[in-house]
Amino acid sequence: MTDMLIKLYDLPDGPAEQHVTGPAARLVRKPIGPEHDAIVAWVQQIFGARWASEARVALTNRPVSLFIAMQGAELIGFACYDATARGCVGPIGVQDAARGSGIGAALLRATLADMRASGYGYAIAGAVGPKDFFSRVAGATDIADSTPGLYAGMFRGQD
Ligand SMILES: CC(C)(COP(=O)(O)OP(=O)(O)OC[C@H]1O[C@@H](n2cnc3c(N)ncnc32)[C@H](O)[C@@H]1OP(=O)(O)O)[C@@H](O)C(=O)NCCC(=O)NCCS
Repeated sequence: MTDMLIKLYDLPDGPAEQHVTGPAARLVRKPIGPEHDAIVAWVQQIFGARWASEARVALTNRPVSLFIAMQGAELIGFACYDATARGCVGPIGVQDAARGSGIGAALLRATLADMRASGYGYAIAGAVGPKDFFSRVAGATDIADSTPGLYAGMFRGQD
C-alpha cells in the first residue's frame, strides 16, 4: 500500500454532484442532516470502525465533505475527503453487490470535483489498495516513500 497523488487541475471541469444514469437510477449526492448517523452506521457495518471514524470527520466538516450513492432508498456507496487529513481523498467504498458498474468512479469524480471547487490543486489518496481504480479514474500516481507515511504510529485500538 502506498499513497497516490492526483492532479485536480488535470481533471475535466464539471458539476461536483454527478448523476449516474441507468435502469437503477442511481444518484450521487451529499447527504442532509437526518441521514448522518445512519450513514456512519452503514460505513461501520460494511467497512469497519476506522472508516466510520473518517466518515464522521467528513460529516462534521462544513461544508460536508462526503458524498453518498443511493439506489432507490438504499445506500450503496460513499466517498469523502478532508477526513484522514486535509487534502486527502478517501476512504471510498461501494457495497459488494453494486461494484463494477461505475458507482465508485462517479463517487470519486464527484469528490475530486468538490475538492477542486474548494481550492485544492492536488488530492492525496492514502494507503491505496486498488491502485488501478485510482489511476484509471483520476490519473493517480504513486508517491515515493509514502509507506507508512501519515499512518506511522497510528493508534489502532483493538483490531
Ligand atoms: C474500489 C471501489 C470503490 C471501486 O468501486 P466500483 O464501483 O466497483 O468501481 P467502478 O465500477 O466505478 O470502476 C471504475 C474503474 O476502476 C476499475 N476498478 C474498480 N475496482 C477496481 C479494483 N479493485 N482494482 C483495480 N481496478 C478497479 C474498473 O475496472 C473501472 O475501470 P474502467 O473504467 O477502465 O473500466 C470498490 O471496489 C470498493 O468499494 N472496494 C473496497 C473498498 C476499497 O478498497 N476502497 C479503496 C480504498 S483505498
